Amino acid sequence: MAAASPVRPAVLVARAIFPETVQRLRAHFAVEDNPDDAEWSRAELIRRLQGKAGALLTGTQRIDDALLRACPTLRIVANMTVGYNNFDVAALDAHGVVGTNTPDVLTETTADFGFALLLAAARRVTESEHFLRAGRWTRWSYDLFAGAEVHGTTLGILGMGRIGQAIARRGAHGFGMRVLYHNRTRLDATIEADCRATYVSKAELLREADHLVLVLPYTPQNHHIIGATELAQMKPTAVLVNIARGGIVDDAALVEALRTRRIAAAGLDVFEEEPAVHPGLLEVPNVVLTPHIASATVRTRRAMADLAADNLIAFLTQGRALTPVNAPRELRMAS
Ligand code: DGY
Repeated sequence: MAAASPVRPAVLVARAIFPETVQRLRAHFAVEDNPDDAEWSRAELIRRLQGKAGALLTGTQRIDDALLRACPTLRIVANMTVGYNNFDVAALDAHGVVGTNTPDVLTETTADFGFALLLAAARRVTESEHFLRAGRWTRWSYDLFAGAEVHGTTLGILGMGRIGQAIARRGAHGFGMRVLYHNRTRLDATIEADCRATYVSKAELLREADHLVLVLPYTPQNHHIIGATELAQMKPTAVLVNIARGGIVDDAALVEALRTRRIAAAGLDVFEEEPAVHPGLLEVPNVVLTPHIASATVRTRRAMADLAADNLIAFLTQGRALTPVNAPRELRMAS
């Protein structure tokens, strides 16, 4: 009698991703995917997670105690993002479920985009393009869209993880900027030297930065870490860039600061209620707005999808995730 082939674990790919990545997963698992990228409600997600050992997620699906209780076979949730504020890590630990993210593979791409937003906001790129496209450019004038200097100015970075450091290196080595940073913990002297970055208090960072880039993770403690009080401490010529997460900035306060020119300009890739954008931001001219695309190059998004898939494969076939964000004391057992 032929030996029964072992039952392959079932995994859910919750959003449309590269077909090649799904194909790779099919070599190891029984895969249910979402090639049409249908918008599933939370109830629908929970329904589809029944019987699944793993899920590949895109950072927008909230994984908390209620969901984990409702999905008792789930053993690993693999985000295709570096940020993992959609995970309740304490709940993952309590249920013995591993969460993973995609660090490193997007660092340089995301730092490039942070700089793109900084340059676009400082040099008024989109504002002037809208003017040109509207047929309003009839004559050259000496102060036409005169913006803020970038090279040789002071770059402030709030949140000095991998992406913050990559932005610091661009500023220091590429644009001759003085780099100041504030972080929960001060970095090693060797990293500071490599980034040519100086640790300062948050108050000094706000006061001194000509361009302030936010790259810190979203946590309840970081909610509205930049609000009216902080904006009031910045230079009126300053440019603010947020490539971290919505909710770190109080969008209503920022609208007011931009409208009254309390600060000069902003570049935003993330928003409090995204994909909804505060209507005031759509009305002020001195802000560059992009739809959460800082890591969006084809190569990087492939690398992110592949790392998320590799986490599922490594954990469910060998018991060890590659880039876990938690380490539960006891793991859920395969059912
Ligand atoms: C990330 O990887 O966290 C990016 O913000 C994409 O969500």
